[in-house]
Amino acid sequence: MKSKTPSESLTILTDLVLPSETNPLDSLFGGELLSRMDRACSIAARRHSKSIVVTASVNHVAFNKAVPVGSVLTVEAKVSRAFYSSMEIFVDVWMECLETGKPEKVNEGMYTFVAVDENGKPTQVPPILPETPLEKERFDAALRRKQLSLVLSGRMAPGEATELKKLFE
Ligand SMILES: CC(C)(COP(=O)(O)OP(=O)(O)OC[C@H]1O[C@@H](n2cnc3c(N)ncnc32)[C@H](O)[C@@H]1OP(=O)(O)O)[C@@H](O)C(=O)NCCC(=O)NCCS
Repeated sequence: MKSKTPSESLTILTDLVLPSETNPLDSLFGGELLSRMDRACSIAARRHSKSIVVTASVNHVAFNKAVPVGSVLTVEAKVSRAFYSSMEIFVDVWMECLETGKPEKVNEGMYTFVAVDENGKPTQVPPILPETPLEKERFDAALRRKQLSLVLSGRMAPGEATELKKLFE
């Protein structure tokens, strides 16, 4: 299968934070943010694989900064690495400053999606060829994150997680 670059799957969703999407402190409800991230990741995974895709796991999400009601929020997702049927999608979240329009990074996350056929059976996806230094950094660390996710979900024995073990050597 021919390799594809992360930018070929780039997905950008921009939307307002409405009052119905906030918590009692008038900032964006965590579940709403996860949903926006999941949608952007799903589109990125679909663009990369040209297949039906399903969320296999949410590997990490950092809620670094509260997002007030009325904010303009941009969710930017790209495939960071592809394995056989699974893909890691890295998602960055930016809040637009009202006065300057400048984006401020408020959140990031990593999701795993799997490409499946019409019967839900995992199918092969194209490999990823990272281009920029950040894409290369995310590509290199993705196998470690995949092994951690597999260990935490009981799909891999800790002793088989070679990339994780290297961290402690
Ligand atoms: C995700 C799913 C397709 C995996 O199917 P499966 O029959 O267990 O298939 P496999 O064990 O071969 O796993 C398929 C791939 O997913 C990866 N995977 C599965 N669970 C994972 C997890 N928790 N973390 C990271 N990768 C995972 C496997 O490592 C494998 O990757 P690879 O093919 O790139 O090596 C299946 O569990 C499923 O359909 N889950 C429900 C998905 C869903 O409903 N999501 C929410 C709505 S979209």
